[in-house]
Amino acid sequence: MAVERTFSIIKPDAAARNLTGAINAMIEQAGLRIIAQKRVRIGRTEAETFYAVHRERPFFGELVDFMISGPVVVQVLQGENAIAKYRDLMGATDPSKAAAGTIRKTHAKSIGENSVHGSDAPDTAAKEIAQFFSGNEIVG
Ligand code: CMP
Repeated sequence: MAVERTFSIIKPDAAARNLTGAINAMIEQAGLRIIAQKRVRIGRTEAETFYAVHRERPFFGELVDFMISGPVVVQVLQGENAIAKYRDLMGATDPSKAAAGTIRKTHAKSIGENSVHGSDAPDTAAKEIAQFFSGNEIVG
């Protein structure tokens, strides 16, 4: 299995509830290493660019408003099979459908306020990491 990198966001609902440490503990217990991390406020244009693939979806406006509503923690995670491993750890997008022990089952409030984002494929992971981090901020 290959060592991969994936991009993670601890979203405003989780950052506001002081869940960064609890979520990071779950990430590390799953065997992923946090190789870059910073707390930021995402701007509207930045959020619209990040979620451009969802632009035509009915929830796009709500999604962007939520993601700029408060601080988030952006991260790069590294490990064997990191992209799939983190998606498994996050659980289903809708927390009511997420498996026990996942981040979303444990912490998320709703399908919109679902606590975490993780990349869905290697090309999106590379693009998402590059949107938020320069090379010298990532220490693997
Ligand atoms: P994320 O993994 O960040 O990618 C897109 C996001 O859109 C997703 O998590 C959800 O938070 C959000 N989303 C998906 N479906 C809905 C919905 N029906 N209503 C509001 N937000 C949604």
